[in-house]
Amino acid sequence: MCGIVGMIGQVGTKEILLKGLEKLEYRGYDSAGIALVGENVRTFKEVGRIQALRDIVPADAEGTIGIGHTRWATHGVPSVPNAHPHQSTTGRFTLVHNGVIENDEQLKATLDVPFLSETDTEVIVQLMEKHFVELGDVEAAFRKTLSDLHGSYAIAMIDSEDQERLYIGKNKSPLLVGLGDGTFNVVASDAMAMLQVTDQYLELHDGEIVILTREAATIKTLDGEVLERAPYTAEIDASDIEKGTYAHYMLKEMDEQPAVIRNIIQHYQNENGDIELTEGVRELVSEADRIYIVACGTSYNAGLVGKDILERIAGIPTEVHVSSEFGYNMPLLSEHPLFVFLSQSGETADSRAVLVEVKKRGYKALTMTNVPGSTLSREANETMLLHAGPEIAVASTKAYTAQIAVLAILAYDIARATGKELPFDLMPELARVATIMDSIMAQKELFEDLAERYLKTTPNTFFIGRGLDASVCLEGALKVKEISYIQAEGYPGGELKHGSIALIEDGTPVIALISQPKTNLNIRGNVKEVVARGANACIISMQGVEHENDDFILPHVEPLLAPLINVLPVQLMAYYAALARGCDVDKPRNLAKSVTVE
Ligand code: G6P
Repeated sequence: MCGIVGMIGQVGTKEILLKGLEKLEYRGYDSAGIALVGENVRTFKEVGRIQALRDIVPADAEGTIGIGHTRWATHGVPSVPNAHPHQSTTGRFTLVHNGVIENDEQLKATLDVPFLSETDTEVIVQLMEKHFVELGDVEAAFRKTLSDLHGSYAIAMIDSEDQERLYIGKNKSPLLVGLGDGTFNVVASDAMAMLQVTDQYLELHDGEIVILTREAATIKTLDGEVLERAPYTAEIDASDIEKGTYAHYMLKEMDEQPAVIRNIIQHYQNENGDIELTEGVRELVSEADRIYIVACGTSYNAGLVGKDILERIAGIPTEVHVSSEFGYNMPLLSEHPLFVFLSQSGETADSRAVLVEVKKRGYKALTMTNVPGSTLSREANETMLLHAGPEIAVASTKAYTAQIAVLAILAYDIARATGKELPFDLMPELARVATIMDSIMAQKELFEDLAERYLKTTPNTFFIGRGLDASVCLEGALKVKEISYIQAEGYPGGELKHGSIALIEDGTPVIALISQPKTNLNIRGNVKEVVARGANACIISMQGVEHENDDFILPHVEPLLAPLINVLPVQLMAYYAALARGCDVDKPRNLAKSVTVE
């Protein structure tokens, strides 16, 4: 999704901006640009990779103030005119914007200037120029401009006639100010972009602007009232966001899963080995009569597994909802609902829209996220962190397993508090899961072979399973779709015969996950049904329910935690299928890591 960087203060700004944009590449984008203020403003924009932008920025282009942007098209195709930065007609103001301006058409109608792009962003900079002509003061015009906007925005703006100030505004889209050593300051939509120069950040709230100079960051409301705020230290280790010797971030992140599970155990266990959650979290869940998990994408799929664990272990009715649906079509709620927002990034706009609505109605919310200080974390009543370390690959892997582990910990804590009988000891079993994950990751080449055999050339595939396995199948299909562009369906095995089995032809690959003893015979029957119709079946089973000829037999874990184990083969198969098909694993087409527009 779109990314913003900006800097005021140093020779070398151009390189810092370009490096910053490279750090944002993982979020997904289709074009990029920078603007530098030196003797005049020079703007460079290009479609495609940051490298393509680098290639067109001349060596002599410099400036001590600059802004940069990666664009993920929403209004208008990826093209040079639609790429940011955008400039006002006179060239006085230049800005970059993330988000969606909902009243752009109405605002455009009030402006008598030519528009050079199809974006909703250009209207902001033209409006800025108009208000500046009327008011004669840049800051006042900036505040007036932002007050006119409906929708979401993170904006960084430069004034070609002022080398001392950078203007910043935020509403519903993430943006942070990074504090320098007194000779420079920066702005970024994601701290990762500017970790190269600072780890000190100022959090910005909706409806605030910042006037950034080399020495200071002045936060104000849209009415001009000055606000004080202390900086915080971004606790991201810069080396965590490097690929190291790995070919792809996705491979690195899949490999990190055992370490993530161990990290989670360490963070949620006290010295007696008991689960330890904050009093705040415990109080929140103790008041709830029903849990509503709200999430998107992979997090939604993790939520489906979490529902089963919460209901079976904690005995609390749990529903799982896709954020973009829930916000506008809220179901009947119980008397004391607890909303659990699952989000790796903590910035997903669809989930945030639900959180805003939930809070408006006076309900409580718990966010499970990988990013401390993210919007969903700040705005919920409580947070449980995933402790998975930065996830860079668009295809989410370690956040999925982390979310399931943290949901299981929550379920066990609720069960303990309500005196429920526990079927097994969670923390030692999670430790065993981590060891088993290690052993699976050590056999990667077997999954490379399976991907080669079943997925390399196929136009479509099915993942089938029952119960918890069916939930993992949804995640398997999503992984395959995201990075290898194979049409993939995740299906409960028994449901296939009610329609979709019509799609099975000679050679259609069907990947069956079998870990649940209760439905072992049923799913084996479903596999026979597809094989009888020509399917090429690949069976990944677990000790205890295995058959001799299965393609891979996973070591046994408690069936309730099986998703933590059997998701690894499907992640790996998706990865190797994408490689075999020549796809760009870490930067799949059309996708963004953090989707900050609704
Ligand atoms: C995007 C990503 C997905 C992710 C989803 C939800 O679509 O491409 O991988 O699962 O957002 O993200 P979140 O950060 O809220 O978990």
